Amino acid sequence: MSATILDGNKAAEALLESLKPSIKKLKPKLVIVQIGKEAASMSYIKKKIETCAKIGLEAEHRELPFETPIDKLFQTIEDLNRDPKTTGFIIQLPLPPHLRQATPLVFRAIDPRKDVDGFTAYNLGKIFLSTEFETLPPATPAGIIALLEYYKIPIAGKHAVIVGRSNIVGKPLAIMLLNRDATVTVCHSKTSDLRQKTLDADLLVAAVGIPKFVTNDMVKKGAVVIDVGVNRTETEKIVGDTDFDAIKEIASAITPVPGGVGPMTVASLIRNVVRAKEQQKNT
Ligand code: GUN
Repeated sequence: MSATILDGNKAAEALLESLKPSIKKLKPKLVIVQIGKEAASMSYIKKKIETCAKIGLEAEHRELPFETPIDKLFQTIEDLNRDPKTTGFIIQLPLPPHLRQATPLVFRAIDPRKDVDGFTAYNLGKIFLSTEFETLPPATPAGIIALLEYYKIPIAGKHAVIVGRSNIVGKPLAIMLLNRDATVTVCHSKTSDLRQKTLDADLLVAAVGIPKFVTNDMVKKGAVVIDVGVNRTETEKIVGDTDFDAIKEIASAITPVPGGVGPMTVASLIRNVVRAKEQQKNT
């Protein structure tokens, strides 16, 4: 039997539609700061701007040169923190090599009330508490949860295995699944006997950044498989972190790449912009 394909475009459209009245009423504004012109970032940003335009959310793409020094970036962040017209902003990652080591310091400079990526220590720390405090959660984990909810896939009591422990996907997703009563295992490059762990997953999340890393012999029959990977092949085709064609014959549900997690990430970012505006109005 072939798996249900979890259509991120459809689920994202529903989420965005639900945000439209608030966007119309509150008129929030998103600013996307890009340093340099990294190819993958260009395409992510294009998608974000297009989606904002489609639902009537004001968005500005602020481009800084590749060689921007750290003090200029801090100045830009400070200006955005103070700008009353900017509801929220994101600094597109990865930063150019000369700034990369400073990534945690760069995020520390962002006002948590405008941190619509949910990457500051304050917003990440809040998600540790419970679902009620997930006000501005990181967009990709939040998008995965929203996709599971859209398809009414239960989380409580399930064994979720996440392959990948990044600060923006694996780690926060583990916490958000725990908040929803899953039992969570986080695997990474040093995990021993990975296959034994993934084979026990009811919900398997691949977020490693290696094309087709998760193969069908690593998946339990009937598992739900979420593919966070966006890997560009030499032919410019985008492939995920899972072997989609083989796994869809075993899994009960699976996300395609593209068209799975990606659109949900964008929709969750936009939800954060709306929430940030709502919060700012109340303080
Ligand atoms: N680069 C890849 N994904 C993301 C994201 O969600 N936010 C930012 N700021 N940069 C990214």
